[in-house]
Amino acid sequence: MGLNNRVILVSNRLPVRVRASAGRVDLEQTVGGLATGLAGPHRERQGEWVGWPGDVARLDATQRLELDESLRARRLVPVQLTAAEVQRYYEGFSNGVLWPLLHSMPTRMPLECRDWDAYVGANERFADVVAERWRPGDLVWVHDYHLLLVPSLLRARLPSARIGVFLHVPFPASDVFRVLPRRAEILRGMLGADLIGFQTFSDQSNFLSAVLRALGVEADVDRLEVGGREVRVGAFPIGVDFAAFDTAGGDEAVDRDLARSAGSAEALLLGVDRLDYTKGIPRRLLAFERLLERHPRWRKRVRLLQVSVPTREGVGAYRELRRQVDELVGRINGDWSTIGWVPIQQLHRSFDNAQLRALYRRARVMVVSPLRDGMNLVAKEFVASRKDERGVLVLSEFAGAAAELSEALPVNPHDVDAMADVLDAALSMPESEQTARMRAMRERLRATDIDSWSAGFLGALAETGQRPIASPLSSAAAGFSRIVTSGPLSLLLDYDGTLVPLALSPGDAAPDPALRQLLGELAALPGVDVHIVSGRAAATLEAWLGHLPLHLHAEHAGRWRPIGAPWGDAPAGLGTWKAAVRDAMRVFAARTPGALVEEKATGLAWHYRRADVEQGAAAGRELRHHLGALLANAPVEVIAGSKVIEVRPQGVHKGLAVGRALECSAGATLLAFGDDRTDDDLFAALPEGSVAVAVGDRPSRAAWRIADPASVRRLLGSIPSLRAGMGKWGAA
Ligand code: UDP
Ligand code: G6P
Repeated sequence: MGLNNRVILVSNRLPVRVRASAGRVDLEQTVGGLATGLAGPHRERQGEWVGWPGDVARLDATQRLELDESLRARRLVPVQLTAAEVQRYYEGFSNGVLWPLLHSMPTRMPLECRDWDAYVGANERFADVVAERWRPGDLVWVHDYHLLLVPSLLRARLPSARIGVFLHVPFPASDVFRVLPRRAEILRGMLGADLIGFQTFSDQSNFLSAVLRALGVEADVDRLEVGGREVRVGAFPIGVDFAAFDTAGGDEAVDRDLARSAGSAEALLLGVDRLDYTKGIPRRLLAFERLLERHPRWRKRVRLLQVSVPTREGVGAYRELRRQVDELVGRINGDWSTIGWVPIQQLHRSFDNAQLRALYRRARVMVVSPLRDGMNLVAKEFVASRKDERGVLVLSEFAGAAAELSEALPVNPHDVDAMADVLDAALSMPESEQTARMRAMRERLRATDIDSWSAGFLGALAETGQRPIASPLSSAAAGFSRIVTSGPLSLLLDYDGTLVPLALSPGDAAPDPALRQLLGELAALPGVDVHIVSGRAAATLEAWLGHLPLHLHAEHAGRWRPIGAPWGDAPAGLGTWKAAVRDAMRVFAARTPGALVEEKATGLAWHYRRADVEQGAAAGRELRHHLGALLANAPVEVIAGSKVIEVRPQGVHKGLAVGRALECSAGATLLAFGDDRTDDDLFAALPEGSVAVAVGDRPSRAAWRIADPASVRRLLGSIPSLRAGMGKWGAA
């Protein structure tokens, strides 16, 4: 599934950038994990790649045409950015604010985040271009932190499109993310997608806590319900093109140069990074110096070759880093060089794949020591290049790749002394151990290469978003007056979240006089039955609504009372499991401030709406898990509602109310309203010709949707006058 759909890739950078010089237009490869990662999917799949081709300001009209032509030939669709957009959207908000924040370095954010409007504007332009190119059936795959609003902007333009977003960088702990003044907008922007992908599980769970904290939306494991849609989240660690790095040979010129410059017994330590402050280059240089200090046998026998690819030089922090790194290299070389030996060689340039393979293969030790990195493809490329199963990877604990490459030597990139010792251990590692570690890592990377990454994400995306979107319902809709005037009518109404807003404590949701009056008026209409179908205890419904001529179905229809009749008995045989559930719920309530236990005749409910959002949700998950195990053999169900974990007997659900309603009024049209998962049981049991209306924005099987309890009341309030013109037949 999904293999034949066209894919529209959307990223800030295209895989090529324009370079204009002396009347010529050249396209050069862009450097970075994103461009490398998407090249394969773009090649293999039908579709287009929308992104920024770099600065075109200096091109004349003919050159621009030439550029458009060569981009078109590569199926690349340019989004041009003005100089002001580059400065404010790209350098300002994306790289000045979001990049440090997402890498858990909020102190690198500017004192004020001024460029939000430019970020919104550029995201809108990307969304416009994608909407223009989109055709039914296309999958849209948005990439990285520059374009986090595009999913929701696109959703507004193309409600039925399947949209995925993948974050190549880390997602920080929610306490860090909450620092961002525009946190809610960014999260809502991402939630416009059907599928949100992260590099690691820890990024995924950080995102879910941020959504819970900032928006109050709780996930069900890997699913969220927003805007009437289901959004899936998942970890999809990006891989490398294993076969391409595993091929024999690398660039011969580079290889020759390395062999010539290396001297006889010299061991090569290699670092390859964009010159970015997240990559930990200064501390790596210090650790290398500490190695020379603490382990003198390596002096004159080891060289650090540091490839530092210039990047984002318009951003002050990057210029500052370059100055700092150059200074450190100069000082260390000044202090340690001999006539025949220079310990650090730094190259400010980029290499192509064949050249990188030559470098990777000559290295004894590859040092990858970012302070924080989404994945780090360089680490994986090094391993994939080592056909000879030799060489040692030293890898920061804070790179996403560390979760998969457990045979690498781990380092804490902040601990310079420890890093020096790890470098010594790496340089001294016996060949048999190098091979054992390398072989295990290579097998894993071969199996989880770049193709399996894109197929995994796109396959998951193709399966999302299949649910038809419910139509909004209002009293003005022609359909509504037909439904409520076509003959006898039975209203089946959930209570909490449908007739009254959800309250912090269950006891706070008693009906107000206006609601009592509305229900009384509806129940008095000839030919109209009103059923309240609620999860509430029978005693509560009786106390709140017992005086009105309503049919009451309590405890998820486990108990019921037709108008004027006494309550039926609770189902028998409940005693055995209830005590255990009560005890467990009390223990969880005692340690979760704000949580409380509600006892009903047929079951028990554990409410946590008043608890701290994160603590409540975490305790709720744990309780659910615990009850699942405790009640594995009991005839009950554990269900998670809106901020409530509930245990009810098997076979008891709101669908039972449907048969009773039809007994009371055979042939009536059933019109049902409900806001949560338990109401879906009611909707599922409705016979053909009935109408189900979901309240709020959680996904539901209902064909109609309405915003909130106030709108439900307005709609119900219009029924008396709509029916007034029907004549007397309904009274029969
Ligand atoms: N890269 C390159 N030439 C260079 C240096 C790096 O093509 O001279 C590529 C490298 O092969 C890798 C990517 O840039 O695919 C860097 O990705 P990584 O995930 O390591 O870091 P990022 O730059 O995305 O932060
Ligand atoms: C990282 C980011 C990419 C970005 C790349 C190069 O890999 O995740 O989105 O394209 O760095 O940075 P640049 O600013 O040159 O696009």
